[in-house]
Amino acid sequence: MIKVGVITASDKGSKGEREDKSGQVIQDMVAEIDGKVVSYQIVPDEKELLKCKMLEMMTQEGVELLLTTGGTGLGPRDVTPDATLELIDKEVPGIAEAMRMESLKVTNRAMLSRAIAGIADKTLIINLPGSPKAVNECLEVVLSALPHAIDLIR
Ligand code: MTE
Repeated sequence: MIKVGVITASDKGSKGEREDKSGQVIQDMVAEIDGKVVSYQIVPDEKELLKCKMLEMMTQEGVELLLTTGGTGLGPRDVTPDATLELIDKEVPGIAEAMRMESLKVTNRAMLSRAIAGIADKTLIINLPGSPKAVNECLEVVLSALPHAIDLIR
């Protein structure tokens, strides 16, 4: 079993103004690799808050895989990759490269996601874009490689 944490970065979602379908897509998809979502939060697009919640999931919940959705674009409030960069010890560029490469076959807007992936202590953090469609397309690309990735950092 892989302990998974999910953070949805969304100003609207955090105020209850938008249903979080992307978080549900993640939950369904990680089940395919025996991932269990043990912690799930909807957080406004604030860098310090995002860092705080990510740290909490790592240290208190012991999540091995932390998937974020949203806030990877170019808008002034899109800060998820920036929060992630401040937490990770090592970047794993291939994960984000693979997601963007495959996504470009679907939409050229894939180049507008600044998503990154990396290791913070014993947690693999991966940023996904915000829409449920994008989450599905991106996670599909990397999902089967994740159990081995997590074995390596355990
Ligand atoms: N990647 C895939 N696979 N499918 C998509 O529909 N949407 C793109 C991109 N990546 C998309 C995608 C768009 S339109 C944007 S603006 C960026 O992700 C950033 O999305 P975010 O700000 O919701 O994180």
